[in-house]
Amino acid sequence: MTAARDLSVDFCGVKFKNPFMLASSPVSNTGEMVGRAFDAGWAGVAFKTIATGDTKIIHPSPRMHGYNAGDKKLLGLQNVEQVSDRSLKDNLADVTNLKKEWPEHVVMASIMGFSNKEWSDLAKACTDAGADILELNFSCPHMTVEGSGYKVGQANELITRFTETVKKATNIPVVAKMTPNITDMNEPAMFAKKGGADGISAINTIRGISEVGINDWIPRPNVGGKGAISGYSGPAIKPVGLRFIAEMAQNKELGLPLSGIGGIETWVDALEYILVGAATVQVTTGIIHYGYKIVEDMIEGLQDYMADKNIKKVSDLIGKALPNLCDTNKFDLKRQGLAEYDLTRCVGCGQCYTVCQDAGGQALKWNSIDRRPDLDEDKCLSCMICSFVCPVDGMITYREKR
Ligand SMILES: Cc1cc2nc3c(=O)[nH]c(=O)nc-3n(C[C@H](O)[C@H](O)[C@H](O)COP(=O)(O)O)c2cc1C
Repeated sequence: MTAARDLSVDFCGVKFKNPFMLASSPVSNTGEMVGRAFDAGWAGVAFKTIATGDTKIIHPSPRMHGYNAGDKKLLGLQNVEQVSDRSLKDNLADVTNLKKEWPEHVVMASIMGFSNKEWSDLAKACTDAGADILELNFSCPHMTVEGSGYKVGQANELITRFTETVKKATNIPVVAKMTPNITDMNEPAMFAKKGGADGISAINTIRGISEVGINDWIPRPNVGGKGAISGYSGPAIKPVGLRFIAEMAQNKELGLPLSGIGGIETWVDALEYILVGAATVQVTTGIIHYGYKIVEDMIEGLQDYMADKNIKKVSDLIGKALPNLCDTNKFDLKRQGLAEYDLTRCVGCGQCYTVCQDAGGQALKWNSIDRRPDLDEDKCLSCMICSFVCPVDGMITYREKR
């Protein structure tokens, strides 16, 4: 039996028994739901964004659209959901009850105000209700009101102002949740730090159009005959999330703890976020696809990986990939390689030949009698596109030239 591995992490001075959190969304909508998630193994929650309740929230119908790629269901998910449609009183009661019944679990209350006063009132109310951390939603992708949602995340002065306002109203850590609908996240993150933020979470959804009906000409989701540019999430956005977390983790001037979000479905996805600098990770679409139980595999997978690599604390893995991340002008261009073919496994489909002809270096000859490729090593660009289209896993591999 291997020694137990320590999955606990510190995020903004708060202890989590593992790095896995529900992200603020329908998966964290009520106390009852979050309680079941805690029982399943999730260490914390970013509760569904709480607003003052002064404006009645009515969600569009339908509010989501699933984007499939071939056999892969929910490669992406588009949504037009708003902040919580529950009353402030009910949400606060849930925060209090969760902390009473699961005191070892972390409740991060996500809040969104539409004025300084609302940000302040919400911060006070959630702090009094017993929240451990506040997450400021500067990133809802389909807000149309100026000075709210992702429009705050794109307006640096507002980020500082609202963060300062919240910091004055609370004594618990404050995390700014950032929008990816910008060029450089370091800039707004620094403005959040200026306002006193203790941590950053990223990313919220990417503004997009996931699909357009080709017969009815209506972008999806089709809400009574209309679509809208709105939030896109799920596995398709993981590269963007990893990139923003890595860039902020590399920024020494920022130096704030990070919570990684975007496209996490498995322990490997979660680990990748940790390796580029996240202390905790948050999940929505993965749970919408498979349910809370995915956390069991996440915990077991991470434990096994750590045992295998003889790593005792998950916190030792945070940022481990960053020394290997550089600008493209730092690559060692003397190191060149080529594609290597294991022809004993070739099924003769010819896809490698087609892509090499049409998008590569024309380095393959095709023997149409025995249906096998023949590589001219001098012409191989080592672009490896032949391996991407090859149906036999591992038949075409990369080898460095010596
Ligand atoms: C239906 C839906 C509703 C969401 N609502 C909120 C919200 O109220 N507050 C918030 O900060 N993020 C919200 N999000 C964004 C998620 O918390 C998360 O940042 C995003 O979905 C990316 O993670 P994922 O790829 O794991 O889904 C929502 C996402 C979805 C799909």
